[in-house]
Amino acid sequence: MTEHIKIRQDGTVLEITFARSEKKNALTNAMYRAATEALNAAQNNQAIRVVLFAAEGDAFTAGNDLADFASAATGKDDGLAAHGFIEALGRADKPIVAAVTGLAVGVGTTMLLHCDLVFISEGAKLSTPFVNLALVPEAASSLLLPARIGHVRAFAMFALGEVVSAADALSLGLANKVLPRDQVLPSAREAARTLATRPLGAIVATKRLMRDKQRILGRMAEEGAVFAERLQTNEAREAFNAFAERRQPDFTKLAS
Ligand code: COA
Repeated sequence: MTEHIKIRQDGTVLEITFARSEKKNALTNAMYRAATEALNAAQNNQAIRVVLFAAEGDAFTAGNDLADFASAATGKDDGLAAHGFIEALGRADKPIVAAVTGLAVGVGTTMLLHCDLVFISEGAKLSTPFVNLALVPEAASSLLLPARIGHVRAFAMFALGEVVSAADALSLGLANKVLPRDQVLPSAREAARTLATRPLGAIVATKRLMRDKQRILGRMAEEGAVFAERLQTNEAREAFNAFAERRQPDFTKLAS
């Protein structure tokens, strides 16, 4: 377990809170494992009807911990626990609500494509700068993001690291509501409690009809294979070293 993920049950709503605010809630392998376990357990627990993701501090999450990416790139550990988390999101049948109270980078944004209601704060910013890190999209976002917002906007987010404001997230269909920061979590909780009163069987059946789960899981596996290859490249090493050394990466002298 890790103190950086907090689990709380509020009636039949399970809250999973990212609690590593000093690192902008960057997700470590330990955090992914704890969140995955909670998310998977919720699917089989009759006492849970809705899952809510929230975060402490001023960021939702800065995405995967870049030191863990760097370790995975050098083969120093047994890989990335992100895959388990992403797959659990893809498999989840129970409704998921997100309270996005600040910036959401990488998986912080792509996980929202698996959430059913998304509340976002006025100053929040969404980004998926995978190519800046010499990586590729994950969480089936190469399928789901273009489907949601169109190819050219999705490409600009992936390849240029274009940042989407809360207002744009709303108009693009990435969020339900933009709210002052202190109202995001209360509104998400209220929505989660309302969802919990609805017939769960009908909600699960609706969610299954709305999402092509097999296609999503298939794309996650394809992305995962390419992502693992990309992690081993000189380009990716340059990107992670640059972040650690607080400098801009220079890819221009590297062959692809
Ligand atoms: N992995 C590991 N540590 C991270 C992190 C990440 N993804 N994102 C932020 N942090 C750490 C910083 O290293 C810093 O740690 P320090 O105080 O020990 O130096 C701390 O969190 C605060 O971040 P800082 O960069 O000082 O805050 P900021 O407000 O200037 O910028 C971000 C915030 C998120 C824009 C910036 O940290 C960033 O670009 N992070 C990387 C995001 C990323 O590429 N994620 C992966 C996507 S696939």
